[in-house]
Amino acid sequence: MSPPSNLGNFKDGSESAAGENYADINWDNYELGFYLVPTDYMYVMKCAKGDKFSQGSIVPYGNIEISPSAGILNYGQGLFEGLKAYRTEDGRILLFRPDENAQRMKRGADRLCMPSPSNDQFVNAVKQIVLANKRWVPPSGKGSLYVRPLLMGTGASLGVGPAPEYTFLIYCSPVGSYHKGALNFKVEDKLYRAISGSGGTGGIKSVTNYAPVYTAMTEAKANGFSDVLFLDSATGKYIEEATACNVFVVKDNSIFTPEIDGTILPGITRKSIIEIAIDLGYQVMERAVSVEEMLGADEMFCTGTAMVVNSVASVTYKETRVDYKTGPEALSAKLRATLVGIQTGCVEDKKSWTVLVD
Ligand code: COI
Repeated sequence: MSPPSNLGNFKDGSESAAGENYADINWDNYELGFYLVPTDYMYVMKCAKGDKFSQGSIVPYGNIEISPSAGILNYGQGLFEGLKAYRTEDGRILLFRPDENAQRMKRGADRLCMPSPSNDQFVNAVKQIVLANKRWVPPSGKGSLYVRPLLMGTGASLGVGPAPEYTFLIYCSPVGSYHKGALNFKVEDKLYRAISGSGGTGGIKSVTNYAPVYTAMTEAKANGFSDVLFLDSATGKYIEEATACNVFVVKDNSIFTPEIDGTILPGITRKSIIEIAIDLGYQVMERAVSVEEMLGADEMFCTGTAMVVNSVASVTYKETRVDYKTGPEALSAKLRATLVGIQTGCVEDKKSWTVLVD
């Protein structure tokens, strides 16, 4: 999706009362969505097969040149990550658990036979690119700067095999909400997101996990649904995740979410929400969740970096539609408020999840 034309003039800057420089977006009057707003810079670091990443640099944001026979283009040798930088009320910029993204990228890189940046290289690169694009971090309460690290085989290779060269690239975009309002899910019972069990790639952020959901997603959206919920490919009886988020169901005082078994993406928001819910006194169970259990739940919500925490208003499975509790009284509202509070520096960060960019 492209940004609306009334977003502002990206070339000139403006200064806030606090003396901060901002890109000339109409931050007060325009509600950002989840679409690309190009920023000033991106980060690029390259390494040859068999080597280690060593030195990256900040370069102007723009198109990249790539061989037609690059590993990423031909054989899908690529991963992405997603994390957000938030501006606090007192003007600081915070990242949320960037080391978790670094570790997840490393696990994915091992699976796809790619070298990966070290934890420190990853986190430092993220800090550098956020600082370089500081004027694009929205004012407190107006959104966040979405940071998108990519790791891809960019070397040319005609035969099937690991590419001879790799690129770690990070670009950013200011964003607002991914979805507006509570979601209406359609359960997909013919197409699957990932191979069940530990042998597939559902548990890593491989670029190849996303386009295969487009057919189901496009059809569901054409029929008025907001998103698709996928089932396990082995039996079709258990819920897995939606196109770009993990899912949870709530029954009485218990919360259930599919366990991380190689198929489910180990979401950083998922992991954080589990901890927050336990701290708030809820029982959280990570285990297989059947379709019947979901249909009998009181509440359902989903989590993801882009999505944060979003309540699910309804699920439609074949001919059955079930409505769930939503609104300010829903548990998901409480969990979201706590998480966003920590991310934006309004709630005390007792777990040292946030990292200051300075
Ligand atoms: C994220 O939440 O960062 C994701 O990876 C979802 C993305 C595909 C929009």
